[in-house]
Amino acid sequence: MKSADYLSSLFNLAGKVAVVIGGTGELCGAMAEGLAGAGAEVVLVGRSLEKAKARLARIAALGGTAWFHPAEATSKAELEKLRDVVLEKTGRIDIVVNGAGINSATPFFDITEEEFDRILRVNLKSVFLGCQVFGRYLVERGQGGSIINLGSMSGVVPLSRVFTYSATKGAVHNLSLNLAREWAPHKVRVNVLVPGFFPAEQNRKVLTPDRVASIMGHTPMQRFGEARELVGATLLLASDAAGSFITGEELIVDGGYHAMTI
Ligand SMILES: NC(=O)c1ccc[n+]([C@@H]2O[C@H](COP(=O)([O-])OP(=O)(O)OC[C@H]3O[C@@H](n4cnc5c(N)ncnc54)[C@H](OP(=O)(O)O)[C@@H]3O)[C@@H](O)[C@H]2O)c1
Repeated sequence: MKSADYLSSLFNLAGKVAVVIGGTGELCGAMAEGLAGAGAEVVLVGRSLEKAKARLARIAALGGTAWFHPAEATSKAELEKLRDVVLEKTGRIDIVVNGAGINSATPFFDITEEEFDRILRVNLKSVFLGCQVFGRYLVERGQGGSIINLGSMSGVVPLSRVFTYSATKGAVHNLSLNLAREWAPHKVRVNVLVPGFFPAEQNRKVLTPDRVASIMGHTPMQRFGEARELVGATLLLASDAAGSFITGEELIVDGGYHAMTI
């Protein structure tokens, strides 16, 4: 391939199908927009039709192709149905984003079993199930594919106040690296996208004024991220051309937060 052709194919996702679980939300919605902009047919997955409609309108306005399939990300049966519907409609799945997530800032001694189990189910079990349901398809197909799991800085270093969230994200990082190792021989890449601090629905209640001040003090770029700033990293991980030798990576997009000590 000529070098100009190689360069222009690096981030071209035309003909690919991307399933974006959490695509009704802020970050994965922006990632979905980026995937559609690169040419992929995108399936937005979540529970809110209203949020899906807004994102679908944005993608359509940008000339992309996307549709919504509602699913509860903690239900294996619903994810299997999703997989079957997408395969029936499109004949393929190439990229899967596992991004359903919830948060809480409950002080440690006040965390109830119900809250702990709920966050564990949404943040960890959904990723486990997404990898199992879609990973099996990709491994059996044996023609490449990319799974992008949403991690967190709290999965790299524990962040204060968000105890259960941090524990689930630590586990997501661990599971992702385990699967990257297992599935590399089958040409399936598994990576973790690690956003720093981006205002969104799930973390609004956690972003109190004192915490915002603390985050800014530890962020060399001294600002929050904007959701669209995840698109470049998403395309790198999603593309079997650009990301051909990248698996088991924890790709941090955080304005330098992880580089800040004293
Ligand atoms: N924002 C940040 O600073 C930040 C930093 C690090 C990591 N992350 C991670 O990035 C991911 C996206 O979060 P976000 O910040 O964009 O938050 P968000 O706007 O609240 O989006 C969360 C998404 O998760 C979906 N969801 C939640 N529970 C679900 C369930 N049981 N079944 C199906 N979908 C479910 C929601 O869909 P519906 O409302 O349609 O159900 C929504 O689309 C999360 O995994 C989060 O932990 C975010």
